[in-house]
Order: sequence, then structure tokens, then C-alpha cells
Amino acid sequence: MLTLVVAATLTALAGGTAGVVQPAAGPVGTTSSGPVVFAHRGASAYAPENTLTAVDRADRLGIDWVENDVQRTRDGELVIVHDDSLARTTDVEQVFPGRAPWKVKDFTAAEIRRLDAGSWFGADYAGTRVPTLKQYLKRVDKNRQKLLMEVKNPALYPGIEKDVLKVLRKEGWLDRDHVRSRLVVQSFDAASVQAVHRQRSDLTTGFLGTPAVADLPKYAAYTDQINPQHGTITKEYVAAVHRLKGAHGKRLKVNAWTVDDAVNAKKVKDFGVDGIISNKPDVVRDATRR
Ligand code: G3P
Ligand code: CA
Repeated sequence: MLTLVVAATLTALAGGTAGVVQPAAGPVGTTSSGPVVFAHRGASAYAPENTLTAVDRADRLGIDWVENDVQRTRDGELVIVHDDSLARTTDVEQVFPGRAPWKVKDFTAAEIRRLDAGSWFGADYAGTRVPTLKQYLKRVDKNRQKLLMEVKNPALYPGIEKDVLKVLRKEGWLDRDHVRSRLVVQSFDAASVQAVHRQRSDLTTGFLGTPAVADLPKYAAYTDQINPQHGTITKEYVAAVHRLKGAHGKRLKVNAWTVDDAVNAKKVKDFGVDGIISNKPDVVRDATRR
């Protein structure tokens, strides 16, 4: 234990002398108990996705990392919701019947605050709200959890990366503790990942997708993780990613999604992935811990 404490202290001191914080390997790498498990949209098999209830549910299951999706309202508020429309996960069609197709970008934050984001999932969750990014960050912090944040549909929201970074800074998420070990920003949109890296080169970032092996070096120039759909990868692909160093000079990592059963969890663990993103993080944890 003492060795671990001394090593951690030396690592912290080493990071402290650098102008730019270097992300720590541990939180986004393989742990001694298997791949890191991320609660996808919170523990979204058990609570309405992307809500504070889903964050708390992950916490109660003992899951440190939660994944979410950030988009922007008409008046510039950042909110946590997956689809570009509010129709599937809220009662927006009842509350605003004349506003089809109910795009997030066409509603103000005050309008979205009125919506029920829980009843679609179950009557017990009636009254659950769509959280703002600010509310979400406060809850994750309160629970001492960590965040894999997805910038969702960034092409719909020009400049959203700057807005996200502004909220992160205001909420204290760009300090050494968060940057080193509690925050990863990812997107399917390579330009968005690049924009985040350009504006805050100390942040750990991830690209969502399965680039061709020949293209991986291009991605490694600005990202630290390649996060693919689990059915698209092989052991050889994971090894090809691992042969490269990411934007911060550490081994490029792989977090596979979305795995909800023990068979596939063990399969991607055997491929050597660093993390698994799951709606049922307890199932994945139990299947992959040694
Ligand atoms: O974090 C991986 C996963 O969230 C990507 O897919 O559509 O659920 O955002 P999606
Ligand atoms: Ca997502």
C-alpha cells in the first residue's frame, strides 16, 4: 500500500511540473480487476437514460464512470439528452403538440424544464427532468463519480465545444483532479474531438468509431481513445490500436460499446479492451472481474 501511495505521489509531483497536465493512465486504462466499466447514459437499463436518477443508480451499483450525451437548446443552454429530438424520451408531444419534430435545438431551456423525462420509462419515474450540463456535473461530483462526456450531433450546434469547455471550467471540472483522472470528452465527429483537443490540449479525448487500421495514426495525433461498437472489433484490431501512442504519449486505448451481457463482455475483455460501456454495468462488471 505504501508503495502505491509513494508512486501516486511521485506521479502527481511529476505532473505538477509540466505546463500541461498529463492524463493519468489508471482511470482510462485496464485495472487489476478487469476493464473499466462505464454506465451508458447512466445505468440506463434500470433508470431513464441521461437523467440524474440514472447517474445515482450507477452510483448505487458501485459504478464510478458514467457516460452522457450533451446537446444545446435554442437559447444556448447545454442539456443532457441522446436523440436530436425530445420525442422519444420526454412527453414533449403532449406538452407542445404543434412543435413537430421536437428538435432539441428548437426549444428553450425553460421549455425543456417543463418536460417529463421519466414517465416513458416507468410510472415510478414521473417528474424526472432533462438535466442541464451544469446540474449533471454537480451530481457526478457529489457522488464522486467520473464522466465520459459525449458531444452529440456537434454539426447541429456550431461552436458547442467552446460552450462545453466554458461550463466545465465554471463548474470546476478543468482543475487538475478532474483533468487527470475524472473526465474524458468523446464524439463520433472527428472535427469536434479535434476542436476540444485544440482548445484544451490537456484533456483526455476519445473518438467514437472504428477507423481503418491504416488511419489510426491520424487519430492518435489528437485523441487518446478509440471507442468502437463492440461488434466491429477483433483482438487484432485492439492490438493495432494499442501499438500506437495517443495524443498524450500514452498507449492509445479502446473502450467498446454497448455491451449488456456476460458473453460479449468476456469476449471483448479477451480482445484486450481497456473499457466497456454498458446499459447494465453491474452485469459487465460481474462478468469481467477476476
Ligand atoms: O459511448 C458510446 C455510445 O454512447 C455511443 O452511441 O448512440 O449511445 O451515443 P450512442
Ligand atoms: Ca453516447
